[in-house]
Amino acid sequence: MANVTITNHPLIQHKLSILRDKSTGSKEFRALISEIAALLCYEATRDLPLEEVEIETPISVAKAKVIAGKKLAFVPILRAGTGMLDGVLSLVPSAKVGHIGMYRDPETALPVPYYCKLPADISQREVFVIDPMLATGGSAIDAINQIKQYNPKSVKFMCIIAAPEGMKALCDAHPDVEIYCAALDEKLNEHKYIVPGLGDAGDRIFGTK
Ligand code: PRP
Ligand code: URA
Repeated sequence: MANVTITNHPLIQHKLSILRDKSTGSKEFRALISEIAALLCYEATRDLPLEEVEIETPISVAKAKVIAGKKLAFVPILRAGTGMLDGVLSLVPSAKVGHIGMYRDPETALPVPYYCKLPADISQREVFVIDPMLATGGSAIDAINQIKQYNPKSVKFMCIIAAPEGMKALCDAHPDVEIYCAALDEKLNEHKYIVPGLGDAGDRIFGTK
């Protein structure tokens, strides 16, 4: 799939293995989600445009590069996406943050939207949608549909684990959206959970089960 980057850096793979382990508790789980998000963000921002400026070091004047403009927005999909927010903001602290609220109906696995608050100037921003899990793809597709109504400059999607079914659905629905992911797993089970996956990301981050 042309727009998909699977970031199999050793640090990410090591952290992901601990994340998957069912004996990992919420405190460590939260820290790992945040660390993996930062590492994914490093990869997803690799092509940000730079511009040249002149600065003065203690020794001489120099030409140096800075990121052109500063128009990024991160949009976590509630709840689990908020677990990745600290990590991405540690790399891009000046980014603005929107929120999209959505949960999967336990019977149908279809996304149920309940909240949307985006930066007012989102049309001038490169948007990074963040959510640890891409299962059927329904939540990501719907969130990106909502965001695109405001004509952002671009949209990228960052997740930690994807199922092939969700990856294909997202690529088909939004072929212009670049996807950054730490692992492409085997399949979905009969409850539309990712196999082997890590279980329910929201419950493991917030300790709600
Ligand atoms: C999880 C996850 C995604 C969604 C992925 O959220 O964080 O948003 O499921 O599944 P999909 O690709 O099949 O749509 P969930 O609905 O469990 O809500 P939560 O984050 O509030 O726990
Ligand atoms: N949501 C999760 O949190 N985990 C899955 O495996 C699928 C959807």
